[in-house]
Amino acid sequence: MASDLSLSTRVIVINGLLFAAGTAVLALSPATVSSQPVLSESVVLLVGLAVMIVANSVLVRRALRPLERLRHQLTSAASAAPEERVAVPASGVTRPVSVAVNDLLERIDDAQRASAAAALAAQESERSRIAQELHDGVGQSLTAVLLELKLLSESAPSPSLDRVRDGVRASLDEVRSVARTLRPHVLEDLGLRSALAALTQDLFGSTRTHVRRGIMPGLPDLPADVELVVFRVAQEALTNVARHAEATTVELSLGMVGREIELRVTDDGHGLPRGAEGTGLRGMRERAALVGGRIDVARRDGGGTVAALRVPVAAP
Ligand SMILES: Nc1ncnc2c1ncn2[C@@H]1O[C@H](COP(=O)(O)OP(=O)(O)O)[C@@H](O)[C@H]1O
Ligand SMILES: [Mg+2]
Repeated sequence: MASDLSLSTRVIVINGLLFAAGTAVLALSPATVSSQPVLSESVVLLVGLAVMIVANSVLVRRALRPLERLRHQLTSAASAAPEERVAVPASGVTRPVSVAVNDLLERIDDAQRASAAAALAAQESERSRIAQELHDGVGQSLTAVLLELKLLSESAPSPSLDRVRDGVRASLDEVRSVARTLRPHVLEDLGLRSALAALTQDLFGSTRTHVRRGIMPGLPDLPADVELVVFRVAQEALTNVARHAEATTVELSLGMVGREIELRVTDDGHGLPRGAEGTGLRGMRERAALVGGRIDVARRDGGGTVAALRVPVAAP
């Protein structure tokens, strides 16, 4: 049977052929049916009926098998990874349905990517605005107070004035550090390497966690959006180490693996709990996906956690 017949036509053809076969057997065989069927005739009729029912169910089930296969694929597509698609058969009734389903999945993925990108862009611009306000508002006022205090202590030196000055200076540092976390100025001004260094200093400067940084020399110039993703992922991974890991050592490395840039944040803390999931991990995944990369956060053999980001980049 031609495989591109519509499903209803197939079923009609199968039934028609079976009816024709039954009729032909009745017409051509010596079998007869009396108006009051005797036992032997009833047996022949029942066997004939059973043969037709079995043949019908086998043939119809075979005709519907592609549909059944597609149903299975659709069920698993609903829970599959975003890039997953249903298999498109070379021909047959389910081909147009499979193609349409894949188009739909593509459109859903596009819409999800666009909305994640919009959410992250809105977040970046809001952070940037707050950073600006902190820098230009509180930061400037504290700087002005600090200058006043300096003049005061020059004209009338006193230990308590020095203590006040130290306090104001510490607050100013804190405001600058928060502004830097909100908007990685250094990223634009000094590049990724310095931004990552500032990040580890901000997060672990006052703790006993030992930080090791290994940034491969001669890395290719990365597009600004990839740099921002690397920075934000490093920021979240390091913040997680500071908040959850209770690690004694954290290692940050950035290098090329083949044609991909790889960021790894490894700690020797107590390890990621099973099934851990939060806005931080989700955010890292979404950011990675925006630049065609992926992130893997897992328990490390021998204790601790490793977060690895890979993003494909053009060769240097
Ligand atoms: N480096 C790590 N070491 C141990 N546990 C971690 C680490 N990173 C993440 N986790 C666990 O994973 C959970 C989810 O992390 P995340 O999505 O960043 O959310 P949040 O940091 O807001 O709790 C955390 O609550 C924590 O239990
Ligand atoms: Mg977190």
